[in-house]
Amino acid sequence: MSNMYSDGLIEEVLERNDIIDVISEYVNLKRTGNNYKALCPFHKEKTPSFVVSQDKQLYHCFGCGAAGNTLNFIMHIENLDFIDALEILAERANIDITQYRGKSFDQKKIDKRKKLYEINREAALYFYKNLITRKNDGLKYFKSRGLSVDIIKKFGLGYAIDDWESLNRYLLDKDFDQELIYEAGLVIKRKDNKGYYDRFRNRVIFPIISPTKKVIGFGGRVLDDSVPKYLNSPESSIFSKGSVLYGLNLARSELGDKKRIIVVEGYTDVISLYQNGIRNVVATLGTAFTKNHGQLLKRYCDEVIIAFDSDTAGEAATLRGLDILEEIGCKVKVLRFDNDMDPDEYIRHYGSQVLKEKIEKALPLVDYKIELLKNNYNLETNEGKIDFIKESINILKSLKSSVERNIYITKVSEMADVPSNVIKSEIYGNNRDKKYKNRFYKDKSNSFTNNKYYNKQKLKPVKKIEKNGSYEIEKKIISLSLRSKTKYHKINSMINPDDFINDKLKNIYNFLGNYYKNNEKLNLDLVIDNLDIEESKLISEILHSNFTYDDFDKTLEELIISLERFKIDNEIYSTKKEIKILEMKENKEEGDVNRIKELCGKLIELEKKLMNMRVN
Ligand code: CTP
Ligand code: MN
Repeated sequence: MSNMYSDGLIEEVLERNDIIDVISEYVNLKRTGNNYKALCPFHKEKTPSFVVSQDKQLYHCFGCGAAGNTLNFIMHIENLDFIDALEILAERANIDITQYRGKSFDQKKIDKRKKLYEINREAALYFYKNLITRKNDGLKYFKSRGLSVDIIKKFGLGYAIDDWESLNRYLLDKDFDQELIYEAGLVIKRKDNKGYYDRFRNRVIFPIISPTKKVIGFGGRVLDDSVPKYLNSPESSIFSKGSVLYGLNLARSELGDKKRIIVVEGYTDVISLYQNGIRNVVATLGTAFTKNHGQLLKRYCDEVIIAFDSDTAGEAATLRGLDILEEIGCKVKVLRFDNDMDPDEYIRHYGSQVLKEKIEKALPLVDYKIELLKNNYNLETNEGKIDFIKESINILKSLKSSVERNIYITKVSEMADVPSNVIKSEIYGNNRDKKYKNRFYKDKSNSFTNNKYYNKQKLKPVKKIEKNGSYEIEKKIISLSLRSKTKYHKINSMINPDDFINDKLKNIYNFLGNYYKNNEKLNLDLVIDNLDIEESKLISEILHSNFTYDDFDKTLEELIISLERFKIDNEIYSTKKEIKILEMKENKEEGDVNRIKELCGKLIELEKKLMNMRVN
């Protein structure tokens, strides 16, 4: 972990907070055999698939794949970072954390952050009181934008009166340190260095509140058309514009079944949508969408809908942020508004029902990117078509699922009015239809060494399915076995359980064999009850890996070949190692020399085997 605390703290925290006790505070656990079961708190379900093991002090959910130990559970359910979860659990078990403080634990820094939060909180209260305890231009402004008093309260909106020092004086009266008020960004130093004046004057105020409900900064808007329209708190140790999302403190509990968040550009868009019943909304603070935003969102939701102005949504920086969000497993869609409207204008013009329908029809990120390209080129001309297709191919190539890729190939081909085969051959080159000529069956008479297709001149590397070695390949084979009894039997006719290198996966494979003897279909409840928690965790990981394929037989064959190849690679490696050790021996005995000869022979056989596995 970070150097905030020494490692011993994690162990003590886990030891003194039994997972069953902790999780029982959130869900209703029922004992079943060695484990406990409940309805999963992380997704909606009707039958329990959330399993907790007291022996292992681990939990995992079949339905959504959530898994971990007590600390992970608290991080997940309370949306806390690691250190916060650790501190909360330490407190729960009455552990004195001061004795675990590590090298980089800096009490002064922590105290200072606390003070900055306090100052901001006081300032927010001050602005809020200004807005609602007397008549003022700020209230008039918000009313003119159609905001209700309830919504003003909900978002803690405020007003900074037209005065140069009122906030500073107020905070000094509350005994806050001048230097810290300055660090919080609420005041600006005078040019002559003599004193300070308020940053926000005669502006309506939008406090920016973190998901853990701390006031970390402010945005202030003018009441008319003057510039700059918005002023924001400057960057500080508690506020960084590029990793903050306005409204997340409220949106986080409004995500709905789809666990979806809508990202807009402006403070007023968030508030206006919220007031009109669309509450899962956050805003970037007028910056491009960053990687940090993506990572923050991923902690809360599964789907993100970007509702930016058309030019921002098309910016390279934003597109990069969106790609990252997809890479870390969020579904990304893009919403576009016509006539340059922003979401606030749109909902006020068309109403929330129309916007809700529009949200359901948001474009998946790929479609959006292709649309963007289409607008950039003139598809009436050959030149435009060629450029459009070239650019599209980069997008198509990045799609991982071949089903998805095929759908978009068709789409691009229709848009450009070019046959889809042309696009396919651009993507795959000319080799795509050539079949694997080698078959590997349990029946060793048909093994690689006597393969008639072996031809040295045509050597090409074997198609690599996986980089991560046997484990990923074996997981995919299990994934196929889980699809149906027939598929399992097909697989079983081609491999032995002992072909599995990973023991847990081998157990699962054996379990499936027995299971399919008595059952036709997979029933997750039975699986949960009959496997240990680590194994069922693995199954749920496999079920959630979204492994797809076009052609079952071909995919299976490729997986089995990869697995065999992996084993041979391993054998080659250990044979070479043994040879090297023997060769380095200073006084070789006759036995050693013979062994080296033997190993060299084996090496040649192995290399031959490997070559025979290559594709023609
Ligand atoms: N922004 C900013 N500084 C500016 C302009 C904009 O920080 N000078 C940020 C604000 O966070 C603002 C967002 O960019 O909310 C989007 O800008 P804009 O669309 O102009 O703001 P709206 O929220 O739509 O403002 P309004 O509807 O009040 O005009
Ligand atoms: Mn606006």
